[in-house]
Amino acid sequence: MDKRPEKKEISDYVDALLYPEQNPFQTDIAKFEELMMMYSCAIKEVQTKLEVLNTDFSVRYKRNPIEFITSRIKRPASIALKLKSKNIPISVKSIKDNLNDVAGIRVICSFLDDIYAVAERLVRQDDITLIDAKDYIRHPKPNGYRSLHLIVDIPVFFADHTRDMRVEVQIRTIAMDFWASLDHQLKYKHDIKEPEEVTKALKKCADTIAQTDLDMQSIKNSIYGEEKQPSKKFEDNL
Ligand code: GTP
Ligand code: MG
Repeated sequence: MDKRPEKKEISDYVDALLYPEQNPFQTDIAKFEELMMMYSCAIKEVQTKLEVLNTDFSVRYKRNPIEFITSRIKRPASIALKLKSKNIPISVKSIKDNLNDVAGIRVICSFLDDIYAVAERLVRQDDITLIDAKDYIRHPKPNGYRSLHLIVDIPVFFADHTRDMRVEVQIRTIAMDFWASLDHQLKYKHDIKEPEEVTKALKKCADTIAQTDLDMQSIKNSIYGEEKQPSKKFEDNL
């Protein structure tokens, strides 16, 4: 059964709150900042691809599969904590070699089938390499979390060199995003009186939302007709 926040996770949050401004990579700050610049450029590249897909869809099908896109670069303290939790030395070199989610993009789609339509068109582009895919929609987490996660590499052309940079792309519906945001907020609250009851209630909400997504998809199909689904599952494409 899924547990409410584990001890390690809670202390991680506290640690991150304790030293938000102090950069654990300050001994190598120039290299660290260069690497973060490279991750933020990788985000721009992937985000542009997603925006192009959305624009093309709006001309072709007269509707937008993407509602909005957000992105973030992992904070220095969170990067250090993640390396520490994996027993990896806290150095700039460790970051690129070991972490997949320093650059993160979240794509919020209108309907369930839009998630796969966008994902398929992104990963089949020549310069995108799919490193990993986790389909938490076909296989939700025990707590009810749903999203499609893709880890991709993209080449970024800098002034004097080209680098493959890694980006985590989370694709979900508005409903899935609504649940995940509130679930995330509740994880910060440590003194929950009946954690098992809360876990059950959250799971129930996730299931209700999943059913609503299916119902909205049926309504969309009845209006626009059914679109062709990706021929293969993402896990099979790796
Ligand atoms: P990390 O969780 O990043 O250490 O890596 P992982 O390989 O275990 O990845 P996973 O695919 O499980 O989750 C990666 C990200 O998905 C997290 O950082 C969250 O942004 C999101 N996520 C995963 N599970 C949950 C969940 O139960 N609730 C919420 N709100 N977000 C989740
Ligand atoms: Mg993460």
